[in-house]
Amino acid sequence: MADDGSEGATIEELLVESRVFPPSPAFRSDALVTDRSLYDQAAVDVNRFWEQQAHALDWFRPWDTTCAWEPPFARWFDGGTLNASWNCLDRHVAGGLGDRVAYYWEGESGETRTITYAQLLDEVQRFANVLKSLGVRRGDRVAMYMPMIPELPVAMLACARIGAPHIVVFGGFSSDALRSRIVDSGSRVVVTADGGWRRGAPVMLKQHVDAAIEGTDVEHAVVVRRLGDLAPGGAVAMSAGRDLWYHELMASAEAECPPEHMDAEDLLFLLHTSGTTARPKGIMHTTGGYLTQAAFTHRYVFDLHPERDVYWCTADIGWVTGHSYIVYGPLANAATSVMYEGTPDFPDKDRWWDIVERYKVTILYTAPTAIRTFMKWGTSYLSRHDLTSLRLLGSVGEPINPEAWVWYWKEVGGGTCPVVDTWWQTETGAILISPLPGVTDCKPGSATFPLPGIGAEVVDDHGNPVEHGGGYLTLTQPWPAMLRGIYGDPERYHETYWSRFPGRYFAGDGAKIDEDGYLWLLGRVDDVMNISGHRVSTTEVESALVDHPSVAESAVVGATDATTGQAIVAFVTLRSGESAGDNLGTRLRQHVADKIGPIARPKSIVFTDDLPKTRSGKIMRRLLRDVAEGRALGDTTTLADASVVDEIRRRSQAAPAED
Ligand code: WTA
Repeated sequence: MADDGSEGATIEELLVESRVFPPSPAFRSDALVTDRSLYDQAAVDVNRFWEQQAHALDWFRPWDTTCAWEPPFARWFDGGTLNASWNCLDRHVAGGLGDRVAYYWEGESGETRTITYAQLLDEVQRFANVLKSLGVRRGDRVAMYMPMIPELPVAMLACARIGAPHIVVFGGFSSDALRSRIVDSGSRVVVTADGGWRRGAPVMLKQHVDAAIEGTDVEHAVVVRRLGDLAPGGAVAMSAGRDLWYHELMASAEAECPPEHMDAEDLLFLLHTSGTTARPKGIMHTTGGYLTQAAFTHRYVFDLHPERDVYWCTADIGWVTGHSYIVYGPLANAATSVMYEGTPDFPDKDRWWDIVERYKVTILYTAPTAIRTFMKWGTSYLSRHDLTSLRLLGSVGEPINPEAWVWYWKEVGGGTCPVVDTWWQTETGAILISPLPGVTDCKPGSATFPLPGIGAEVVDDHGNPVEHGGGYLTLTQPWPAMLRGIYGDPERYHETYWSRFPGRYFAGDGAKIDEDGYLWLLGRVDDVMNISGHRVSTTEVESALVDHPSVAESAVVGATDATTGQAIVAFVTLRSGESAGDNLGTRLRQHVADKIGPIARPKSIVFTDDLPKTRSGKIMRRLLRDVAEGRALGDTTTLADASVVDEIRRRSQAAPAED
């Protein structure tokens, strides 16, 4: 450790954000929670706290043990039986809510469907019978590869109804990715569609399925007709005996299918995290704990008033955000949701705001990548629409830069909506760190505090808790929706999440605690840069860049440097109407130095129209490091748009480093 005490710190703390946004009196007057009672209850007896949340569900048989914890394996509500589809559907219909809208669905080309809870229950029961008729039994895995259409939640809930775990594979993945997930899970039935619509063009899902299932154990593909005759070249090819049309099977399916009584610890689904090079990990989620926490967090983080809110989560159901906050959380809470099939820029860049206005959306949950894209496009698209129905905004998926947070709050929320920055992962199943909107004073860019019932600590390289400053985000106690393991690989589960800091869960994120105890996520620790021995987080430098009024988005990486070990290379996209002239590069470098210190001054700035991102919107800094180092690119298969990197490479060769 150097004399000044800072060098060698686990991760430096550079950015200081002093703006504070307390909940407005108007919001508080009607909020579900306005005091610390939930935190207090959880602090007194955490198991009792989770029991209370579990009581919000219907159980066929009560549990015997609340939490059995043999690290790293947890069992929650053992001995209890329940059914997730019953909790999401039947109990609401039985309670008189059959006519409530579950989903306002909108296709990209403008067609709409309104689906009530009673209709959803009917379709789910029929499809559950279809699955049974295809030989699917309790415990069998069923894969899904679908566009954002209502048949996807129908298929998931039908699986849940008969106790068959589902494996949803994001429709933007390749046939290879689909195949590896089908094989890993041992699925024998795949539910798909002839295609979907994306930015006005058909996406040919069925062709990918054909390639993916050849030579596997798959016996049947059930195909929803979405494109029909609009499929290029006419209707898709169906393999006789193997491929079956959804609508034909549904036409003759029995109407009633009683729900299986599932054990709390029975597998509800697998969701594979897309390892870039390694074999994808099938993250296991079980029934009782997952549903308890998905429902709890959806209700309290979003301050849900199900009788009048219109809630819209813009994620794809192929990601965990869609599982927990389009399907299980909202339906368990009898919420009314919007579900949209397409992209935000089709037919124009105001599509989302048009949807918010038409459905009078009250709660919007999206990702920083979308917010920064809207910043880039400018506010004119927002001002075409009446957004005053909105009352709460949420963010998930990446650290949200303070300036993007404030833009979201001001331009989308009109300065009246709390913004909840929610930290969690596929592995955690549900939101763990987030404000409670009626309680927490928010700081832009901070996910604030662990939710009630969650133990989170930042630790240093040696695993010692950090009171103030940067380090590694760890979880100190089990939570109901936690992953139960990696499918078929308990050793890898232990190694990946529990070995770096014994007794603690660690999944790769850096974080810092400020002097008021707020948590700030600092990005993946693999991305941390080392500048003259100072460990600098990508997030803080990026936030300092986005703080400049010309900048919409940025990604920074460390590139080898003879003097400083690593030097910061920044890739920057500008807001619409801004140009890189007039020494903007020099001014941005200075802006970062002024804002967070000379150590973080980028060595060079590359202006680009786009950044390389995964299909879930996360920036792929690994590829930018390859560009900055002049290396051959690593695996690019998870990129949303592969041409982006070529363009960046061209521009970075033309952008010499500045001194
Ligand atoms: C990142 C998405 C900062 C983080 C639900 C995490 C975030 C990874 C936030 C999980 C946030 C998610 N602030 N970073 N609010 N939310 N992340 O599995 O790096 O797709 O580990 O789950 O996204 O991504 P996943």
